[in-house]
Amino acid sequence: MDVYEAVDSRRSVRAFSDEPVAKEALERVLAAARRAPSSGNLQPWHVYVVSGEPLAELKRRATSRAMAGDPGDEREYPMYPTELTSPYLDRFSAAAAQRYEALGIERDDLDRPKKIAALNSEAFGAPVVLFCYLDRTMGPGQWGDAGMYLQTVMLLLRAEGLHSCPQVMWTMYRKTVSQLVGADDGLVLFCGVAVGFEKEGVSPLRTGRADMSETVRFIGV
Ligand SMILES: Cc1cc2nc3c(=O)[nH]c(=O)nc-3n(C[C@H](O)[C@H](O)[C@H](O)COP(=O)(O)O)c2cc1C
Repeated sequence: MDVYEAVDSRRSVRAFSDEPVAKEALERVLAAARRAPSSGNLQPWHVYVVSGEPLAELKRRATSRAMAGDPGDEREYPMYPTELTSPYLDRFSAAAAQRYEALGIERDDLDRPKKIAALNSEAFGAPVVLFCYLDRTMGPGQWGDAGMYLQTVMLLLRAEGLHSCPQVMWTMYRKTVSQLVGADDGLVLFCGVAVGFEKEGVSPLRTGRADMSETVRFIGV
């Protein structure tokens, strides 16, 4: 698959089929993703790949927390800045509106947070979830490295015909995740990535993007 095609076809899929994902495909992707760049070549990511009964158990535990209205574990890093201003707030609101509509959740539904948490804690039906951790001693530069690594993984998944959805939501249940995967206190959960084949018959959600002139300046080019 052409790189442009991989970038263009990658989107956050929120309806996966239960078709299993071959371990060999995951191994190919994760072996190739080791080529992702990182400042000083620290390669600061720690990845746990969870599937089968351990994932089913994790989904059960997280879903029961979500359905009980559990507000989640104390956060180790903020999902967003407390003061989200324009243009970021506008982009956030537009994407959220598109997402709720695609998931069939009304904006004024009082149970909306619970429903969203429940869908996320089922990993949208994905048969595999990767959990990406960073060593607690790492700083902002290494968080950036982890983002580059995960995007590399998600693009390679496209080459295998697979889709993904990054999920920061798993950090709400980070203690449940860490207990299940056996991650020690020295590691901070960055996010999960749901992986699988897209369910047939679900209309794809293509989120908008800011015009390039809003985010890129060419100087001397
Ligand atoms: C680090 C990170 C965490 C995310 N967490 C979630 C999440 O918890 N649940 C979810 O449904 N989508 C999540 N997303 C997906 C974003 O909403 C999505 O990337 C954005 O709206 C752009 O849409 P696209 O990925 O379909 O292009 C996350 C994305 C990133 C990069």
